[in-house]
Amino acid sequence: MSKILITYFGTYGTTEKFAKNIAEITGGDLFEIEPVITYDKDTANYEGLAEYAKKERENDTRPEIKQLPNVSEYDYIFIGYPMWWYTYPQIIRTLIEGVDLSGKIIIPFNTHEGSGDGGSYRELQEALPNSKVLIGLPIRGQNLKDYDQKGNIKEWLDELKIDWSE
Ligand SMILES: Cc1cc2nc3c(=O)[nH]c(=O)nc-3n(C[C@H](O)[C@H](O)[C@H](O)COP(=O)(O)O)c2cc1C
Repeated sequence: MSKILITYFGTYGTTEKFAKNIAEITGGDLFEIEPVITYDKDTANYEGLAEYAKKERENDTRPEIKQLPNVSEYDYIFIGYPMWWYTYPQIIRTLIEGVDLSGKIIIPFNTHEGSGDGGSYRELQEALPNSKVLIGLPIRGQNLKDYDQKGNIKEWLDELKIDWSE
């Protein structure tokens, strides 16, 4: 069996739903990226969070993660996040710098409200020259809330032509 890890970060449960759908389809293990300082507590509302996240980006911060995943035993590592200011949240930088992803196959996915992946999958490949980043899937958060997306997710995974049972 190929070992699959699905790591994800999010604040409002949208990306989590996407991650859980992937886990149901692939049988992979789920791992939530939890910040030491939780965003909702510090910022209280969406506008507050937007401002807070913008500052994190401008200052190129590396928000601390409670516990990093042990990636060594996995072949495929999904990395999921909400679009934050047209790219991945800074905490994803903490993740990819904090664990050794060399030689791993990375599968990005994200939720958004209009920006798609914002070019973040390409950025991820640039940040991880020793990993292979496959084609990711962006899904609009509202669509995840309103409709069952498992068919679309399965179609995307099938197109990656990965034999999960290898
Ligand atoms: C700080 C912040 C910045 C955001 N920036 C964008 C953006 O640039 N483009 C976009 O389409 N959506 C943006 N959004 C919307 C989120 O990507 C979207 O609501 C996402 O589904 C939230 O996922 P979550 O529930 O897992 O936190 C932003 C949301 C927040 C909170």
